[in-house]
Amino acid sequence: MHNEVEITLKEALELLENASSESDILRIKGVYVGKNGKITQLLKLIPTLNADEKPVFGQQVNKAKEKIVEKVESCLEQIKVKRTGSVPDQTLPGRRNWLGSRHPISAMVNQIVEVFYGMGFELAGGPDIETEYYNFDALNTPADHPSRDLNDTFYTKNGMLLRTQTSPVQIRVMKQQEPPVRIIAPGRCYRRDTIDASHHILFTQVEGLFIDREVTLADLKGVLTTFAHRILGPGVKIRFRPHFFPFTEPSVEYDFSCLICQMKGCPVCKGTGWVEISGAGMVDPAVLKEVGYDPEKWQGYAFGMGLERIAMLKYGINDIRLFLENDLRFLKQFNF
Ligand code: PHE
Repeated sequence: MHNEVEITLKEALELLENASSESDILRIKGVYVGKNGKITQLLKLIPTLNADEKPVFGQQVNKAKEKIVEKVESCLEQIKVKRTGSVPDQTLPGRRNWLGSRHPISAMVNQIVEVFYGMGFELAGGPDIETEYYNFDALNTPADHPSRDLNDTFYTKNGMLLRTQTSPVQIRVMKQQEPPVRIIAPGRCYRRDTIDASHHILFTQVEGLFIDREVTLADLKGVLTTFAHRILGPGVKIRFRPHFFPFTEPSVEYDFSCLICQMKGCPVCKGTGWVEISGAGMVDPAVLKEVGYDPEKWQGYAFGMGLERIAMLKYGINDIRLFLENDLRFLKQFNF
């Protein structure tokens, strides 16, 4: 009987010695010390033995089991060393948990929303895949307007499009509620632009819409100036330039002074000292009529802002492509 334990142990150790893979080792382990393994079977014989034989035999089988389990461990370790080519250095410091952080654009959205909340605006949103009606027609944009061209807008096969601006959210909100309206709507926009340091096919805008009685362009300038100061500090200047948008009249484009070079001129402001943020203006009466508002009673302003541009100014980032490349060396510099 004792002999059988010895033989089984010897057999197991030999097999383990010659096993060449992790799965072989684990299989052998099962054959000997698994639930129905050979050693386990031997343990089951104990009750059939004489009282004086029991302890000696029991000890022997348990020792054999221990030896096999030890051998399994050491063989697994050896295989690991072979595979990785190195013995783990037990003196190395442990790895820290690596906590991710918010993407700078998401952090920027949150900060902007917070500032507008403070001025009484509410959050609104709309889909990224829009109809031509909401993205263009309802915004008073004629069928032959260049922005509707296939070269500028991504159309889907079923006649929808990827919204080129967040302005369609204006229409969605106004169609759903009576004035007054005071909303901001952050979201992604898509255009068939050539990608360079300041243009991308995917970017983020925040739309603003304010409809009430007796609203003027001065209100718009006041709100945008307050916004600029809260987000970028009191040193930033804002300027309006006359422009044209089909859905606002009058329309402006507005710029923030370049904080990267302190208006001395750099690649981000293209040497002008000013960075273009986006467009704005007084909501065109045609748009108000389209959504069923009476333009004699209600007026308002709308604005868009390019979020990446603002983030670039705030954090001194000189290439818009960085936001979408997911390079950890870039992302790790922010700790939001
Ligand atoms: N939607 C315009 C753009 O993307 C910006 C804009 C928004 C202009 C609101 C006027 C009013 O260029």
